[in-house]
This record gives sequence, structure tokens and C-alpha cells, in this order.
Amino acid sequence: MEQYVIKGGNPLVGEVEIGGAKNAALAILAAAIMTDEMVYIENLPDVRDINVLLEAIKEIGAVVERVSPTEVKITGSTISDISVEYEYIKKIRASYYLLGALLGKYKSAEVPLPGGCNIGSRPIDQHLKGFRALGASVDILHGAVVAKAENLTGKHIFLDMVSVGATINIMMAAAMATGNTIIENAAREPHVVDVANFLNSMGASIKGAGTDVIRIQGVEKLHGTTYSIIPDQIEAGTFMCAAAATRGDIMVKNVIPKHLEATTAKLEEIGCQVEEFDDAVRVVANKRLTRTHVKTMPYPGYPTDMQPQFAVALTLAEGTSIVTESIFENRFKYADELSRMGANIKVEGNTAIIDGVEKLTGARVSAPDLRAGAALVIAGLAAGAVTGILHTVFNIPAILSGILTQISLWSINLRIMSGKSNLPLLNSETIISFFVSRSGSST
Ligand code: UD1
Repeated sequence: MEQYVIKGGNPLVGEVEIGGAKNAALAILAAAIMTDEMVYIENLPDVRDINVLLEAIKEIGAVVERVSPTEVKITGSTISDISVEYEYIKKIRASYYLLGALLGKYKSAEVPLPGGCNIGSRPIDQHLKGFRALGASVDILHGAVVAKAENLTGKHIFLDMVSVGATINIMMAAAMATGNTIIENAAREPHVVDVANFLNSMGASIKGAGTDVIRIQGVEKLHGTTYSIIPDQIEAGTFMCAAAATRGDIMVKNVIPKHLEATTAKLEEIGCQVEEFDDAVRVVANKRLTRTHVKTMPYPGYPTDMQPQFAVALTLAEGTSIVTESIFENRFKYADELSRMGANIKVEGNTAIIDGVEKLTGARVSAPDLRAGAALVIAGLAAGAVTGILHTVFNIPAILSGILTQISLWSINLRIMSGKSNLPLLNSETIISFFVSRSGSST
């Protein structure tokens, strides 16, 4: 078990370089097996979920060569098995992308139902509906999705709700179907566009990604490519919220400012100054923040993955703020934890009502999921003279590890320890237990 000790209470001031987008990278790695030629992927985030997915890809027979922590070569010509092991899948949500990739290429896939952060019920019915529409038979057998088709045929598919995962999965399978597919009510997230661009660089014909209608002309074969993944908008947004909550000044570099507009707009509303550059944003918070309302929505709305981090800033803003979560029903589990740190936050259904306080203080808290963990780290950094200890039952996942590494580089008081902490709980101390969901996955 690792533990993280953070001494907060100082404004975060510095520069941070954002890595590749985890959620784009996971889909792109799965899609990389769709050609028999070598694919070279750059700007990978060096996080646990990526390593788990690469292991799963290796396990089914692909050649995976990690050139550096941020680069990998994948060759799918040696794939011998279309059945993915539960061992890998239970750890990460994005394993479901292997369904679309294997089904598209081999017309057959067997992938256990995915794990992921416990933030709601998270069905994958829309993914399966899409595969069936393309002509596959899809069954759930012994906890796995078994999808098979003689041939996939393009179809006009209407998604019942906007789903990032379903849009990408159907796009992958349809890229190698016969004929044309149209996905209506498609997700417009930047990583949907990134995956479409990646597939197109392999010879696919996908148009309209980034709008709610995606048109795919199936091709018989995909070829090798070299591709660089877009920057992670959630990691960037997390640092932006950290600047706000600590009344700091952070230059967030290597970002696409357009992807951050929802966060930028909300931070400006609560009194931060946000300056946009070509590939950077600077967030300065030099006075007490003020209240606002925020509701999570599919892109370009305010991202659900940024909801807990922004809520921390609102706990310190003057006045009453309302946070409405409209994507996942179980995303306020961090609220009680923030209350222990002195926040005044009450949850009613999918709404949190936050009465801003002047400061947060230390307490024992536990983080129920990845983004909630990031939010509690921000709270620990903002809390005056507080020591935060972050326990993990698994490795600190994904983005959080990047954030903690960066914070330690800034010489904020962060210590990483192994083993169980024997430190006494003093009144200036926060103990954050990080319980990743049963599977240890991240979002
Ligand atoms: C992905 C992201 C996650 C992010 C979420 C929304 C990954 C690994 N995870 O998750 O970080 O929070 O997008 O931006 O990329 N739904 C259904 N049926 C389906 C699919 C989805 O009912 O078949 C519902 C979900 O329960 C949820 C909503 O649609 O309420 C959106 O889910 P979706 O966009 O698919 O999220 P994920 O792919 O799980």
C-alpha cells in the first residue's frame, strides 16, 4: 500500500506539461490491432490503465514494443486469439474497445464485461445494439460479451443516449464493415475525434467525428501508421481547478485550449483569470472565488470527469453554488469526505448544494473513485496547514499519479511512503484513503 502525504495551504504556482489523453489512448491502442502492419503511437500517457491494456493486447498475440514510456509499437499480424482474459479486463473500463476492434477485424470477439470506477450503473447496451445493427450476433455468456458475424454490413444507427464508449466502439467495428454506416446522436468528445483521425490515418474513411452525425465508409483493410495522441483535457482541467482552489497561478502547457473551454468558462465565472495561448492556458486566482452553478453534459458541455475537481473550488467560493450531475448517478460520493474537511456540501439526488466556506481543514477521508481522488488531493492542497495522507489499496491510477508526480516536482510538501501509516491523527492532519473500485480501475 502506498501513502501520499501532502502539506497544503500554499498557492500552487508553477508550470505543468500535460500528457496524452488517457481515454483517447486506450481506444487508440485497441484500434491499433486492426491492421497487420506496425503502428507507432506517440504521446502515450504513462499510466497504469495503458499498461494493463497493452498486457491484454500482448496476451492475445500482438507484438507490443514499448519504445519509451510515451511511445509504443504494436503489430497485430500475430494475433492468435480473439478471446480476452478477464484478468486484464476487470481492471479497466476501456477494455470494451477490444470488442469493436476485434469484431471489426476478425468478425469475432470475446471480451468479459468491463470494470471501471464505481460512479454509476454503466451499461454497455448501446455498444451491443450497434454491433447487432451491423449484423453481429451478440450474447452474454459466462460474464463475457461474445460477438460474431459472417460479415459486418453498414447501417444507420441511432444511439439512445450520447455515449463516448458506444460511439467509438461502433466506429471501430464499422470502419471494417461492408458499406456505409451512419451513427446519429454520436458523442462529440475530443477523443472521439482523435480515434477517428487515428483510424483515418490507417486508411479508414470516417467523416463527421466531432459532430453528432458520423459517417463511415467501411474498408477491407487498414494499414500501419504513426500517430501522436491529443493532450488530456481532464488532467489539464484538474490543474486549472487546483490553481483556482489554492488561489494559485499555474501555466498549463501542451494543451488544446478549445478542449478546455467549458472549464475555462466556469473558472472565469467564479473569478479566475484564464489566459489562453496557442497550446497553453494560464489560470490565476488572486482573490476569493465566487459562487456559480454547473451541470455536467456531454461535450462541449461541462465534463462529468471534471465535476468533483470544480466542486472543490466551489466549496471555497463565496455564496451558494449548485452542482448538477447528469451523466452518472453515483458521482457525489466524495461529498461526505469534503464535509469532513469543513466543506458545507449537501447532496439531494443528482444535485449538490454547496455553501462556500473560507477554509478547509484536515480530516480522515477516503476517495471513492479516480476523479474524486483528484478532487481530494486538490482539497488537501488548498486546506491550511494540513497533512493529507493518501492510502491506496492498488496503485494510484491514471491521471492521479501524474498529478502527484507533478506536485512533488513543485516541492509542495508531498511524500510518498509505503506500508501502513502509524502517524497519529492530529487536528491539522488529513488522512485520505484511496479506495479504487473493487477492480482497481479508473473512470
Ligand atoms: C467514458 C470515459 C469516462 C467519462 C465518460 C463520459 C473512458 C474509459 N471513460 O466512459 O471517463 O466519464 O465517458 O464522458 O473513456 N450509457 C448507457 N448505455 C451504454 C453506454 C452508456 O446507458 O451502452 C450511459 C452511461 O450509463 C452514462 C452515459 O450513457 O450515463 C454516458 O456514458 P459513456 O459516455 O458511454 O461513458 P463511458 O464510455 O463509460
